[in-house]
Amino acid sequence: MVTKDKIKVLLSAEEIDKKVEELAERINYDFAGERVIIIGVLKGSFMFMSDLVKKINLQTEIYFLEASSYGAGTQTTGVVKISKDVDRDLAGENVIIVEDIIDTGITMDKVMEILRARGAKTVRLCACLSKPERRKVDIDIDYLGFEIPDEFVVGYGLDVAEKYRNLPYIGVVEISD
Ligand code: IMP
Ligand code: MG
Repeated sequence: MVTKDKIKVLLSAEEIDKKVEELAERINYDFAGERVIIIGVLKGSFMFMSDLVKKINLQTEIYFLEASSYGAGTQTTGVVKISKDVDRDLAGENVIIVEDIIDTGITMDKVMEILRARGAKTVRLCACLSKPERRKVDIDIDYLGFEIPDEFVVGYGLDVAEKYRNLPYIGVVEISD
C-alpha cells in the first residue's frame, strides 16, 4: 500500500519561482557577456537547475555531477567523493555549482575545493536552500534562495528515501502511519 504522509507547505511554487527569477537576474548581471559552465549536483538539484537555467540568458553549458559522502547512517562525514564527474576541462571557465540544500556544508565545501583545483577562473555556489543552524564548515553561498530552520524538507527535487522529489513546492513531512 502507498502511505500518504501529510506535507506542510514551507515554500510555495510561486514563492520559489519568484526567487529563482531573482537569482537568475543576478547571475545574468554578474556574468554579462561571459560564458558560464553550470554544474548541477544530482539528484536533488534537478528541478531547481531546470527552472534556473531557463531564466539565464548567457552562453551556458550544462553538466551534472554526483557527490557521495561516506559515513554511518544519514550523517555526513568528512569523506566526500565525486562519484559522477564532469567530462569537461574547467580551466579558465566561470563555473556555477547548483545545489538543492546546504546543510552541514561538508559536501559542497569538498566539491568546491576539488573543482577549484582544476583551474577554473571562478567557482561560485548557487543553492536553493540553506539551514544555517546545521553548519559545520564555513561556506559562502554566492546565490542563495532561502534560509530555512532546522527541519527536514522535501519536494522541488529534495527527497526522503527517494520520495517526493516531484513536488512543485517545498514542504515538511509530518510522518503518519
Ligand atoms: P551537507 O551540506 O554536506 O550536510 O549535505 C547536504 C545534502 O544533504 C544535500 O545535498 C541533500 O542531499 C541532503 N539534505 C540535507 N538536508 C536535507 C533535507 O532537509 N531534505 C532532503 N535532503 C537533505
Ligand atoms: Mg544533494
